[in-house]
Order: sequence, then structure tokens, then C-alpha cells
Amino acid sequence: MARLAPSILSCDFSRLKEQLQAAQRGGAEIIHLDVMDGHFVPNMTFGPLIVEAVRKILPDGLLDVHLMVEEPAKYINDFTAAGADFLSFHAETVPDFDRVINLLRSSGLRPAVALCPGTPVSAIENVLHKLDMVLLMTVNPGFGGQRFIPGMERKISELKKSIQQRGLSVEIEIDGGIQQNNIEFLASRGATIIVAGSLVFSDHDRIEATVRSLTERIRPF
Ligand code: DX5
Ligand code: ZN
Repeated sequence: MARLAPSILSCDFSRLKEQLQAAQRGGAEIIHLDVMDGHFVPNMTFGPLIVEAVRKILPDGLLDVHLMVEEPAKYINDFTAAGADFLSFHAETVPDFDRVINLLRSSGLRPAVALCPGTPVSAIENVLHKLDMVLLMTVNPGFGGQRFIPGMERKISELKKSIQQRGLSVEIEIDGGIQQNNIEFLASRGATIIVAGSLVFSDHDRIEATVRSLTERIRPF
């Protein structure tokens, strides 16, 4: 069963509560939160304060925090206190990511490693058994509303094969460029958590209906 994770990057922050509640009514169990530092990626967003606010709005939601920051280990305590569930950091930001995964696990978070489009799946082979999720970026990180990079579906298949061969249970999350015309195909390839930002939030009057229809379309996979 594949699940949808609406990304608040594309929401109207002046109507955060209303829009998150609409997404939840549509059936969203997971909310994706993009933290950007202006160094690892050329854009800045928000930090733990917004995660804490989302936790207050959705006490039972699964909060999936995607850190696009340098030195992610520095912020683990803050995001734990803010109420994160999944915490993804980028493999490209850390030389010894085994250590960071251990820190996340010992903080009670669900550890995940994110890979930029150019970073091969083989980068996480050694730590795959320690992860709850691998986040495959299907656009270059930094901005919502970009186009899916063709060929990224092959990384989903490669990762799925590796997880199955090793008898592991690891979520495969994809992030970036998800649209009406590729979402089912990507779920069929093996993505189990599908992030959607602009697709869900660009039409502010239809958030609930959009989430409901996308959730139903990917549920069978
Ligand atoms: C981009 C972020 C994404 C972003 C996706 O760096 O990681 O989560 O919100 O936006 P869309 O779905 O519009 O491509
Ligand atoms: Zn993201």
C-alpha cells in the first residue's frame, strides 16, 4: 500500500491550520516538512518552530521532516523536541552517516537517508538495514514545482530489489515532480511514500478532494 505525504512547502502559511486539516480530512496520514538552510540548497524555509506548530495542529499525524541542511546532527534534539517522527538527512551532507543514523535511532526518531538525483543507491547499501526509510529525490532539492527527472524510476526499482533481496522492511519515499500523470506509475514501481507539494496545495480550494483522490489511486500498490 503506497501512501501520500503532502509537502507543506507549497501551502499558504497564513492558512496553515486550515490547509493541514483539509489534507487530513482527505486521508493524509503523513505530512512532509522541508527544512532548508540556504547552504546545502539555495533556498531557506523553516526550522523546528513550524514542525512544533504542525504537531499541535495534527497531534496524531506522522511528521516526516526532510532536512536539506549542512551538519544535520546538530539539529536532532530540536526536531525531536518539536515532535518529528521520520527524520531524513542527506547522504551528501555527512561523511559518516552511520553515526548520524545511530543518533537518530537513540533519540526515538525513525531514521531516513535522502539521496540527491545524482547520488547512487549504492551509497546507502551498507546502512540499509539500519534505516526506516530511504528518500529518493526525483528533482534537485531546493524548490517545489519542478519537473520530475526522467529515469529516476530506475532508482526506485534498484532500491526495491535490494530491500527485497535482503529481506528488509524499509520505506521508499520519492520527492519532487509528482503529478497526476506519473503518480500511479511511480507507485507501481515500488514507491511506498509519495511526496506531493504543488500538486496538493496549488489549488487551495480543492486540497481535501485532491488528497482523497490521490490517496485512493495509489492505495492498491
Ligand atoms: C524539494 C522538496 C520537496 C517539494 C516537492 O526540495 O524536497 O518536498 O516540496 O514539491 P513538488 O511536489 O511541488 O515537486
Ligand atoms: Zn522534501
